[in-house]
Amino acid sequence: MTETGGQAAALLRIAVDAAGEAGRLLASWRGETRPEVVDTKSSPTDVVTKMDRRSEALITGRIRAVRPGDTVLGEEGGQTAGEAIPAGPSRVRWVVDPLDGTVNYLYGLPDWAVSIAAEVDGTVVAGVVEVPRFGETFTAVAGQGAWLHRNGAARALRCTSGVTLGQALIGTGFGYASGRRQVQGEVIAAILPYVRDIRRGGSAAVDLCSVAAGRMDAFFERGLNYWDYAAGGLIAREAGAKVGGLAGRAESTSMAVAAGPGLFQQLDTFLTRLNPERDASAGQERDALAYRGDRRQAPRNETNHELSACRVCAGRERDRIPRRNRAQLGP
Ligand code: IPD
Ligand code: CA
Ligand code: CA
Repeated sequence: MTETGGQAAALLRIAVDAAGEAGRLLASWRGETRPEVVDTKSSPTDVVTKMDRRSEALITGRIRAVRPGDTVLGEEGGQTAGEAIPAGPSRVRWVVDPLDGTVNYLYGLPDWAVSIAAEVDGTVVAGVVEVPRFGETFTAVAGQGAWLHRNGAARALRCTSGVTLGQALIGTGFGYASGRRQVQGEVIAAILPYVRDIRRGGSAAVDLCSVAAGRMDAFFERGLNYWDYAAGGLIAREAGAKVGGLAGRAESTSMAVAAGPGLFQQLDTFLTRLNPERDASAGQERDALAYRGDRRQAPRNETNHELSACRVCAGRERDRIPRRNRAQLGP
């Protein structure tokens, strides 16, 4: 193992320990009532529970105890620099989603996870996604493959290959903002007739691990945060998936796609034609209205414009399907 590989493996061990402990803390919630919602973020349905914060505090504490000089970027606490250390500034940053799938957690559904990635000089080199309700820990070190640990055994992960779009089971997710969701709904309506089926699991980190494990053929989501996909993206990539954005761009908070290379290409072509990143300005206005609880109707012409644009879009969808994908669909 190279020195870099050795360092990444050491960082992974820290991440695995912290994620395991945080997972046990989260799983220990056995209240009759739902965990307390202490705040909202981008919209009234984008909640933060007391447990999200406790999990992040635990993880940050564990990392700081062994690597006090590192930077930590956590969903709840933002970015905090480490303390000055004799060796000079650390090159390591930790990217932490202390509870991915908060809404599932709140409702008692099992798909939620703790996600921790370690970057060296801005590149993710190690990642863990801990899924307590299934007793599963997904890990990866850059260049060393992806693994699923369960019941004391570990197995190497491999994404599916040779799956056509028409045969693909595709995971996705929706943002919390109303305007973005409208576009996301239109995109799903356009793609649904041309794929095996769609899944919305509720945790992007788990979804990416599902691609890695071959439990889904592909995943895409517009508007994730970096902590949602930092660890899961590495795990999917190390399992053979291509992870990126659309039209040759890198994965980002605008768009993240993961699939075996052939399917990635088909999905990229299909999604790019649908322009799923088009929600910017009109959506933001609507979100602002929704967030203020303002029940005024959107101006008639805006609504009509959106509806007619949507119909035009739907009418053109069939023509936009790449010919090779139409052929896969059969009669
Ligand atoms: C969310 C989950 C969800 C995805 C959302 C994320 P959170 O993270 O990953 O699956 O669709 O975009 O924000 O809020 O539960 O940490
Ligand atoms: Ca998340
Ligand atoms: Ca979260």
